[in-house]
Amino acid sequence: MGEMVSRVAEDVLRARSATVGRMAAAPSNNDGCAPSAASREPAAVRRMFDRIARRYDLANHVLSGGIDFWWRHRAAELVRQWRPARVLDLATGSGDLALAIARKLPQAEVTGVDFSPEMLAIARAKGLERIVLADALNLPFPDGSFDCVTVAFGLRNMADWGAALREMARVTAPSGHLLVLEFSLPRGAVQPLYRLYLHRGVPILAALVTGQKDAYQYLAASIEKFPSGHEMTKLIDGHGFVHAGARSLSGGIASMYSARKSSQWK
Ligand SMILES: C[S@@+](CC[C@H](N)C(=O)[O-])C[C@H]1O[C@@H](n2cnc3c(N)ncnc32)[C@H](O)[C@@H]1O
Repeated sequence: MGEMVSRVAEDVLRARSATVGRMAAAPSNNDGCAPSAASREPAAVRRMFDRIARRYDLANHVLSGGIDFWWRHRAAELVRQWRPARVLDLATGSGDLALAIARKLPQAEVTGVDFSPEMLAIARAKGLERIVLADALNLPFPDGSFDCVTVAFGLRNMADWGAALREMARVTAPSGHLLVLEFSLPRGAVQPLYRLYLHRGVPILAALVTGQKDAYQYLAASIEKFPSGHEMTKLIDGHGFVHAGARSLSGGIASMYSARKSSQWK
């Protein structure tokens, strides 16, 4: 698999300003704008991330007030406790979670996958060595290739959450682990204030940092649509995994889910 990964990494650089094979051919009626949070058309999602790639990290840190470092640290720490030898970080984007895991597990083979060539180019520049340009719903790896699959702030953007989880289960080794880190909505009195920030504050701040206001209007809408808590653990358990558990981070602004591959997986 090592040779394939480095070959694909070269392809990422070639693909940056070219098309991305089948993915580029995916139909979309949404040229140049953010995708709709309901349908999450893959080609529109990919173009959106290609557009914001150069400012993505800065926007993350500004909009979260830097807490995103802590969330990824918590996720990488949990993965470290599982001691996986082969880790797949899906929707790796600019590579922050994959790099955090690689720092905590220097012996592990950490592979980052994303379908945005521009995001992967940033990950590569930051030192992520094993990168593969691919769609998370159709991964180019044999069954059971990884001891652990992680996905941070990526599942929410995928066109079919159940199909994406099933594909994650397929490439996870028997009894292997899954970790999902995602945005969620805080409960209680702070929720209206947080929603105000999400729908009004975030797009304005993001427009200043990235020049791409609609990408961050999409962010707010997609967080509203995405399941959390019990609904999310049910989704995970229903698609190839068992024992899904949830932890709320930073008062519920983010949530971390973990599960094991089901022995019943087919
Ligand atoms: C919000 S970013 C998250 C990046 C990174 N995981 C992090 O924690 O910052 C979402 C990433 O998911 C990728 N993505 C969305 N749908 C995808 C899919 N179907 N296959 C591969 N990558 C996908 C996007 O290209 C983007 O880089």
